[in-house]
Amino acid sequence: MFPIHRPRRLRKNETIRRMVRETSLSPDNFIYPLFVIFGKGVRKEISSMPGCFQESVDKVVKHAKEVHSLGIPSILLFGIPEHKDEIGSGAYDEHGVVQKAVRAIKDKVPGLFVITDVCMCEYTSHGHCGIIKDGDVQNDQTIELLAKEAVSHARAGADMVAPSDMMDGRVEAIRIALDDEGFSDIPIMSYAAKYASAFYGPFREAAESTPQFGDRRSYQMDPANRREALKEVALDIEEGADIIMVKPALSYLDIISDVKDAFDIPVAAYNVSGEYSLVKAAGKLGWIDEKRVMMEILTSIKRAGANLILTYFAKEAAKILNK
Ligand code: PBG
Repeated sequence: MFPIHRPRRLRKNETIRRMVRETSLSPDNFIYPLFVIFGKGVRKEISSMPGCFQESVDKVVKHAKEVHSLGIPSILLFGIPEHKDEIGSGAYDEHGVVQKAVRAIKDKVPGLFVITDVCMCEYTSHGHCGIIKDGDVQNDQTIELLAKEAVSHARAGADMVAPSDMMDGRVEAIRIALDDEGFSDIPIMSYAAKYASAFYGPFREAAESTPQFGDRRSYQMDPANRREALKEVALDIEEGADIIMVKPALSYLDIISDVKDAFDIPVAAYNVSGEYSLVKAAGKLGWIDEKRVMMEILTSIKRAGANLILTYFAKEAAKILNK
């Protein structure tokens, strides 16, 4: 009741604001995505994602060192193979580009926690996240290959695997395969509520994974659905997921919040490529204060309930937080 209640008292200066702040960000919360490409000495900037690169193994190792030195504990690796084929065989090739990168990074930067993206779309000639028959992605055949891919990543030394394909039953298939091969201690972070989003546009340039026909709406979730996210997450937890992810983050803060309230395992959120590119583009035009918008976005994702944030802003944000 006015004038007894004056909430502005607690906003008077930065010291008191700091004392009552409800949400704090730390580099500990960040996972930085990296794109590995075949070749040597390659470091090619992704035009729609300024500051992000496709890098060959030698370059990605250097980059991983830099990420680690900024206090960011973890990276997420995506691979772009030399050859793509119908069955995405580069995905589970022991000498594949991600497998090589994992070995090199774990050798040179052992303290960095290496997560691998487990999916077929970067490795298939048609760009879909699985095996195609009669124009449709075959669920049960695909999950066998995903399990093989996950095992090959674990064998290379990955600390955690992250399936992003949205096939039904893949978490269980991966869990069983990992356990059978002696990797029962390797956790699974599942892209549990992953929406069929236009915000992935720039990533598909980065990973060269645009579907050559159709779209991903028969496997990724409908952006209009909220309750279905809880079902997807519940299934993945039942199947053995250790961390569950909501993706994208910014247009799905309600989903992050719902999932956080409903389950008691760590929640990750993917601040995806399109969310990054929008900020970069507007920043470049001088239309927004890029750094402040970045910190506000990351704070909102954490405030909504994410423990972990996968973000292309990780390095820039860590530099600000480390000051
Ligand atoms: C692979 C995958 C995608 C992203 C992460 N893993 C693209 C897609 O599903 O089309 C998107 C990441 C981003 O946009 O930053 N399935």
